[in-house]
Amino acid sequence: MITVQNVNKTFVNKNQEFSVLHDVSLEIPEGVIYGIIGYSGAGKSTLIRLFNGLETPTSGDIKIDGQSIVNINKTDLRLAQQQIGMVFQQFNLLASKTVLENVALPLKLIGVPKEQRQKRALEILEIVGLNDHDNKYPNQLSGGQKQRVAIARALIRNPKILLCDEATSALDPEATSSILKLLAKINREMKITIVMVTHEMEAVRRICQQIAVMESGKIVETGSVTQIFEHPNSAITKSIISESQLQNDIDAQEVLKEIKQNATSDSAILKLTFVRETVRQAVISEISREYPKAQFSILGGQLQPTIEGVMGYLIVQIQATEDLQEQIIKNLNTKQVQVEVI
Ligand SMILES: Nc1ncnc2c1ncn2[C@@H]1O[C@H](COP(=O)(O)OP(=O)(O)O)[C@@H](O)[C@H]1O
Ligand SMILES: [Mg+2]
Repeated sequence: MITVQNVNKTFVNKNQEFSVLHDVSLEIPEGVIYGIIGYSGAGKSTLIRLFNGLETPTSGDIKIDGQSIVNINKTDLRLAQQQIGMVFQQFNLLASKTVLENVALPLKLIGVPKEQRQKRALEILEIVGLNDHDNKYPNQLSGGQKQRVAIARALIRNPKILLCDEATSALDPEATSSILKLLAKINREMKITIVMVTHEMEAVRRICQQIAVMESGKIVETGSVTQIFEHPNSAITKSIISESQLQNDIDAQEVLKEIKQNATSDSAILKLTFVRETVRQAVISEISREYPKAQFSILGGQLQPTIEGVMGYLIVQIQATEDLQEQIIKNLNTKQVQVEVI
């Protein structure tokens, strides 16, 4: 378990102070995939770098399994750091070393004999699906393969925790998908806790069980993926969720724009979010039967898998008097559908 207690972080550059984290507290349980999401500049990288001692907090404490890594001597910090692997957006591989040498490097640095470290590196390369690439150089690999090498290197010392800072942000959608699957497998099969910092809600939705949302150096909300998608509290969370869903469907956005421009007061565009069992309910046909005076058109939608089951949304236009619109929205809420008027 990672415990963050009332952490503040201020950088000082040329006598100027930059206060980057403000009273951050967080508990990341053992064994989960935990997502920390927020826009660029929110303080995510600074926060995650505190978890393995790459940065130290200005005040507050960070504990790994109950042991502080802030108030600790250098020898103990190095021991604690062995338990924690990290991967980055830009892979950080050594171009002049082969895949095998890159992966084995952390063992070389602690003096593990060549044969032993190469054997271990080959084992890990197999886990990340790169068995036949050990003699290649990083520039002979795709982005997704490079990230697999970086993940293998992060795993070679058997860490309990894997930190990922925007690990999929430099990858195309296909490579992103395959790296997310690999991370889920590592979490499941190797029982490694994963903390994933990202600005992409898509990535978090697909493999995280729990989420913290960050804005301007603060945690604005935390919860399970389902809770956060079902009842986002803060404006920032709502905005991140909406963007992630709509950007998948640029066509839908254009249609939406046109419809909004031509909209009159007797029509409303709603985004209905379905979580868990409501996905399967025929909510729209039910509601159109209940309100024969209203007309419903479906403008777009999507089903999205999460770790807890399928979740989805529909963009629907209703033609009805304002009174009736209000009744319909209330009715939808009683059906456990989250409604947002666009
Ligand atoms: N070493 C530093 N000195 C001064 N400001 C910094 C330093 N590192 C980060 N910051 C500032 O802290 C804020 C948060 O940065 P960062 O943690 O990288 O955010 P994120 O990863 O969410 O994009 C930014 O405004 C950034 O400019
Ligand atoms: Mg960052």
